[in-house]
Amino acid sequence: MEQKIAEMRAAATAEISSSADLKALDAVRVKFLGKKGALTSLLRGMNQVSAEERPKIGKIVNEARAEIESLIAAKNSELKAAALQDKLASEKIDVTLPGRKIHRGRLHPLTLTLNRIKEIFIQMGYSVETGPEVETDYFNFEALNLPKDHPARDTQDSFYITEEILLRTQTSPVQARTMQKHTGNAPIRMIAPGRVYRRDDFDASHAPMFHQVEALVIDRGITFGDLIGTLDFFCKQFFGEKANIRLRPSFFPFVEPGLECDVSCPICHGHGGGCKVCHDSGWLEILGAGVVHPKVLEMSGYDSSVVSGFAFGLGVERVCMIKYAIDDLRLFFENDLRFLNQF
Ligand code: DAH
Repeated sequence: MEQKIAEMRAAATAEISSSADLKALDAVRVKFLGKKGALTSLLRGMNQVSAEERPKIGKIVNEARAEIESLIAAKNSELKAAALQDKLASEKIDVTLPGRKIHRGRLHPLTLTLNRIKEIFIQMGYSVETGPEVETDYFNFEALNLPKDHPARDTQDSFYITEEILLRTQTSPVQARTMQKHTGNAPIRMIAPGRVYRRDDFDASHAPMFHQVEALVIDRGITFGDLIGTLDFFCKQFFGEKANIRLRPSFFPFVEPGLECDVSCPICHGHGGGCKVCHDSGWLEILGAGVVHPKVLEMSGYDSSVVSGFAFGLGVERVCMIKYAIDDLRLFFENDLRFLNQF
């Protein structure tokens, strides 16, 4: 009997220590301590043990049970600790991993430019007007002193929809629309930003669709000097304090006198040295302007002997390209993020 108990104890000890996981350990427990386990069957054999031997054997059996129980308990906590370690290792979060980059959208350079232009004029008290892109011949040409067979119509190759309807070739029709909305009442101080369309090639400096900002001021006593002061102020605000303007006489049927306005190169400041923006000329054309023609005032209901005005039309792509030294207009329309992300 003693021999059997010792063997069972040794077997249990060995199997406990080699249990690989909690499940295996539990199987060992059932095998030795369970109701039908080895220990129970040993106890069943106690009736063959003589009465004087019984207390001694009983004691050995109890010691064996206690020993096996404590070994199982020890192994149990050892395995549990190991399982926890495994879990911790497998679920570890590496806080040093770089986060996922969120790609943020941003405003298109033309939108930024339009916003800045609007800001400059709004602070001077101008309102922002709009007009349709599909325009009538009347507003696009006639009301601007360009009657049907005026030769100056040829300078703006147009997309006609019908004889009388076209895609506007300039934002100038918003001048006439705004004047007629005000029904002859001065003052007007407005800008009109928007798209215009011309049958042009698509190359580094032309596109069939581009943007202009029109401006119109009408009041008593508006002079050519007001126009010059406004252009100079705008350029200094938009390009920086060092910017200067240069005016060249020009012709537009809706103004008299008419002019074209250049800005001093904001990249080389006229120092040349192979400047890619102004090609060493030191000047860049940005807009057409002039004193509103009396006929234009009269046609839209203003008395040209009482009020006068000035107007100009600015090329948005042009000023944006000058400001950011962009050398190809097509970049604005290609949606290449490598380009767009720079602004
Ligand atoms: N509309 C002209 C163009 O697209 C630009 C222009 C010139 C607008 C003179 C004006 C102006 O208001 O007074 O070429």
